[in-house]
Amino acid sequence: MTEQLTVIVLAAGGGTRMKSKTPKVLHRIAGRSMIGHVLTAVGSLEPTRVVTVVGHQRELVAPHVTEVRSDTVLAVQEEQLGTGHAVRVALEALDAPPSEGTVLIAYGDTPLLAGETLQAFADFHRAAGAAVSILSGIVANPHGYGRIVRDEAGTVQAIVEEKDATEEQRAITEINSGILAFDAAFLADAIGRIGNDNAKGEYYLTDAIALAREADLTVAAHAVEDALQTEGANDRAQLAELGRELNRRIVTGWMCEGVTVMDPATTWIDADVVLAQDVTILPGTQLLGATVVAEDAVIGPDTTLEDCEIGAGARVVRTHGQLAVIGAGATVGPFAYLRPGTELGAKGKIGTFVETKNAKIGEGAKVPHLSYVGDAEIGEGSNIGAGTIFANYDGVNKHRTKVGRHAKTGSNNTFVAPIEIGDGASTGGGTVVRRNVPAGALAVSTSPQRNLEGWVLSRRAGTAQGDAAAAALAAQTGEQSENTQGLGDDPAEQAES
Ligand code: UD1
Ligand code: CA
Repeated sequence: MTEQLTVIVLAAGGGTRMKSKTPKVLHRIAGRSMIGHVLTAVGSLEPTRVVTVVGHQRELVAPHVTEVRSDTVLAVQEEQLGTGHAVRVALEALDAPPSEGTVLIAYGDTPLLAGETLQAFADFHRAAGAAVSILSGIVANPHGYGRIVRDEAGTVQAIVEEKDATEEQRAITEINSGILAFDAAFLADAIGRIGNDNAKGEYYLTDAIALAREADLTVAAHAVEDALQTEGANDRAQLAELGRELNRRIVTGWMCEGVTVMDPATTWIDADVVLAQDVTILPGTQLLGATVVAEDAVIGPDTTLEDCEIGAGARVVRTHGQLAVIGAGATVGPFAYLRPGTELGAKGKIGTFVETKNAKIGEGAKVPHLSYVGDAEIGEGSNIGAGTIFANYDGVNKHRTKVGRHAKTGSNNTFVAPIEIGDGASTGGGTVVRRNVPAGALAVSTSPQRNLEGWVLSRRAGTAQGDAAAAALAAQTGEQSENTQGLGDDPAEQAES
């Protein structure tokens, strides 16, 4: 049987430097909240139990934690009396506090933390047979961190917090990242013995190190190789920095998996996006949420896709899309706006300046130019003329339009829903379709064109338009008389010309 592993995530603190109505740990990078990243890393260890300590703005934090990880136990820390107090609250929240195995402590605001790092640390802790292990780091500027104090032999003796440290101790650059691993039995005993007689008047979890040493138990320190993984974001500038770094890591990861990224600096990929081999991403592209892109698709430049599914070999250019499904070999854009419920079939086309919503466009069907397609179904192989509006809204309700297979509709049409255009039907240019068009029929609604000869000459005389019309007519008359001369005097011929 594998050893028991309990993970406690501390997230009760305030985060005032964010200056936000949103709790610090709910601020997002790479499409997930900071605590979402931590809980994902924690989850990869398949722990026996996870406890999250909430306090500040817990009415917002608690539901989010439950949404991300439904089996997490929530412990409420009413007052934030220190990390030692927070862990005590966490242990008390469990029906049966862990008495064996390992208890791992993490913070809710370290979004770059990777599951492998936590796993390696837990393995190190077990191998060391330690009562407590510290995930430590060597940093250039240790200000604000708890310093790791060692004796002459190099054995860890204590962690001293910034405010309680002597001048000499403040010079120590080996720090506590905050991530600690405890032998469960030792923690259960030590947690009640931690006091708050210190500069901050807080219960410091880090005092457990000195308690272990007093009992002659082993304390081990494991240096984290990648210090950014334990870095927290306290303000929005740090959040952006960590966001950029996380993105750099995600983009590099996909390049290692065979994705071509022309400009990593302007490419943003959320943590949950999935890309196939030989996908190409052009500059200025954001792939967000649960977007999935299949093999050989080319996305961008300047494209944002959120929760979209892009088929193999599809081409999506300068497009903004949300909750859309694009079939294999289909083309989209430039300048398309795909709204939720858009489904484009294989080899279909949504072209330039086209907006779609709740629109199922069949295999090989095309909406090439300047159109709005809302609440519609377009059958396979059909072609929608340029400038067509699917008028789905009567001012009160939305209605659907259905276009059959292999229909060809004219330019500048309006389809007044609810309406059906049959298989293989056609419509003339400028048609306003208000009645169903049977299969194979041609629908025309425009009245025959009338030309009022000379209208401009009489109504716009003296304007540039009038002058142009007059000049053209004069030239025509001149041509006519020249022709007439060449043809001789036959009055019948003159009349026909
Ligand atoms: C803590 C450590 C310090 C370490 C540093 C790393 C202690 C006493 N100090 O200091 O050694 O170098 O982290 O960043 O442990 N929290 C609660 N409830 C509380 C207090 C804190 O949930 O009552 C949570 C906070 O939300 C945060 C984490 O615990 O996620 C750390 O708290 P913070 O106040 O930032 O600790 P530091 O003083 O930075
Ligand atoms: Ca801190």
